Amino acid sequence: MAVTPASDAFIAPEMNSFGQSFRDYNAESERQKSVEEFYRLNHINQTYNFVKKMREEYSKLNRVEMSIWECCELLNEVVDDSDPDLDEPQIEHLLQTAEAVRKDYPNEDWLHLTALIHDLGKVLLLPKFGGLPQWAVVGDTHPLGCAFDEAIVHHKYFKENPDHNNPSYNSKYGIYSHGCGLENVMMSWGHDDYMYLVAKENGTTLPQAGLFIIRYHSFYPLHKSGAYEHLMNKEDEENLKWLQIFNKYDLYSKSKVRIDVEKVKPYYLSLIDKYFPEKLRW
Ligand SMILES: [Fe+2]
Ligand SMILES: [Fe+2]
Repeated sequence: MAVTPASDAFIAPEMNSFGQSFRDYNAESERQKSVEEFYRLNHINQTYNFVKKMREEYSKLNRVEMSIWECCELLNEVVDDSDPDLDEPQIEHLLQTAEAVRKDYPNEDWLHLTALIHDLGKVLLLPKFGGLPQWAVVGDTHPLGCAFDEAIVHHKYFKENPDHNNPSYNSKYGIYSHGCGLENVMMSWGHDDYMYLVAKENGTTLPQAGLFIIRYHSFYPLHKSGAYEHLMNKEDEENLKWLQIFNKYDLYSKSKVRIDVEKVKPYYLSLIDKYFPEKLRW
């Protein structure tokens, strides 16, 4: 796959819709306190055993049957507390991201679709999907089973996580080995891993890079700070290049660009038809 952006490549705006820098967790804002409280709960409660239990439970895919587009519409009912930048219906974010990617990479249709669906796992917040608390659905993700890297946002709250004092889990490698591959690493539970599971188990034909983006797009300690690179293998390194391209759009397309949903819908329905079955198990 060639990485060739169109000539008028996407330029990231410097301010979000609240007039602050993107992902500025120290900025004084109404939202800052609730974001910090969110990460306190996330860091205390996401343990190795918790994640193992969630993966087992949600692998059953026995809750709902619906199409990808039905899920896009369903996501409108969801608000993400962890995100300091976003204050719009989710479907706008999905389409803003997908359309921005499409403009710069017109030939990578799999990347347009990946952008559209990357956040669908947030339906975990809805009662039909278990009504999980925000700390178990959204926010940055990180590995479990090895030491919590300092690059993780609000790292200080890990002191109260039981895994922090468990000698099996609190060394640099913990239960892992050098270059073992991210596929073998247990990540904190949330919408990334859930949507990856849904896509894979329903037999998507998206390329590996698309699945990698869905699964690790909230893994900021890796793709922003370079933490945990010692766990990656060759394939992860290749996929990470695409994730870094994607991430620019995920982050910076949360601006006040309005999308005409009805106008772009036929294009995305054709992509869904190409890469997914008509109905998926969730
Ligand atoms: Fe996300
Ligand atoms: Fe997103």
